[in-house]
Amino acid sequence: MKAVILTEPGGVEKLQFDEIPKPIAADDEVVVKVKAISINPIDVKTRMGIGLYARLVSEVPIILGWDISGEIVEVGARVEEFKVGDEVFGMINFPGHGKAYAEYVTCKAEHLARKPRNISHTQAAASCLAALTAWQALTKVARLSKNDRILIHAAAGGVGHFAVQISKQIGAYVVATCSKENTDFVSSIGANEVIDYQTVNFEDKISELDFVLDAIGGDYIERSLKTLKMGGTYICLPSNKSAGVIEKSKATGKNGYTMLVESNGNDMKVIAQMLENNQIIPHLSSIYSFEEIQAAHRQIETGRTKGKIAVLL
Ligand SMILES: NC(=O)c1ccc[n+]([C@@H]2O[C@H](COP(=O)([O-])OP(=O)(O)OC[C@H]3O[C@@H](n4cnc5c(N)ncnc54)[C@H](OP(=O)(O)O)[C@@H]3O)[C@@H](O)[C@H]2O)c1
Repeated sequence: MKAVILTEPGGVEKLQFDEIPKPIAADDEVVVKVKAISINPIDVKTRMGIGLYARLVSEVPIILGWDISGEIVEVGARVEEFKVGDEVFGMINFPGHGKAYAEYVTCKAEHLARKPRNISHTQAAASCLAALTAWQALTKVARLSKNDRILIHAAAGGVGHFAVQISKQIGAYVVATCSKENTDFVSSIGANEVIDYQTVNFEDKISELDFVLDAIGGDYIERSLKTLKMGGTYICLPSNKSAGVIEKSKATGKNGYTMLVESNGNDMKVIAQMLENNQIIPHLSSIYSFEEIQAAHRQIETGRTKGKIAVLL
């Protein structure tokens, strides 16, 4: 089968097509014929030798990617939930070796949910890691409740645009940051207030919030903590820009967290239900062909992707 392997850490040219054997399902696994994948910043970081690279380096070949949508073509002996022909989607084997950039993948059945019929494979693939991160951050790390006030940074991005929609479903009041060109988009998905971070210091505009979900990190940590009420909760997503989160939060009377999203089929089922009910709608700004995977990586590298991108196999 055709797969994209990472020959060594580096630029997009290190992503190379190869022919490798089709995988076989273990007893608790399924084989999925991949119809679409999505690319996340973690794919780019890992390609560069950071991110999850250290966890994968002992396995050859390294195949990046975690977000898939496709059709089951084989089920392991102990899998009861799915059968051949089922259309499924999910974030597979995260934070392990996902191997999603391939025509076929194996994964534990418990990482998947049925793909809602009302969305395409590209939309489904786009609603995996980013949507799961938003869901797990807002309902498991923090427990966002109705009428809570939350600040969501990078609200126009992959995680952010799901986080805005999920927060609104919960009944929270959402303040969001994005650039001027994305303010209409972020308002359209439900944000109550939108702050253009390029012209306004968000910490001068808002205060006494209950939560901050921060996909930027670095100097946003201290600035965001200023917007929280005492006892408020701050969650920092980029692990390479979250140094000192817990200590800095504690020092200011707030609760600070880092997190790492995890594969979870039950959470994927909740996301599937929200997609089916149109309670969350993935925004796809571009769809690439499999051959254009290097271009897809370049787009995520810009750090300015609106919503998500997907790759159609
Ligand atoms: N810990 C975890 O489990 C976990 C899970 C998922 C993601 N992450 C990390 O979280 C980060 C975001 O992921 P993502 O998938 O959402 O990325 P993304 O889709 O690439 O985010 C792009 C968005 O960031 C916005 N942005 C850039 N600079 C900004 C700033 N200074 N203030 C506000 N918005 C800004 C851009 O909006 P404008 O164009 O409007 O500027 C763009 O829409 C990445 O570092 C990723 O690795 C961590």
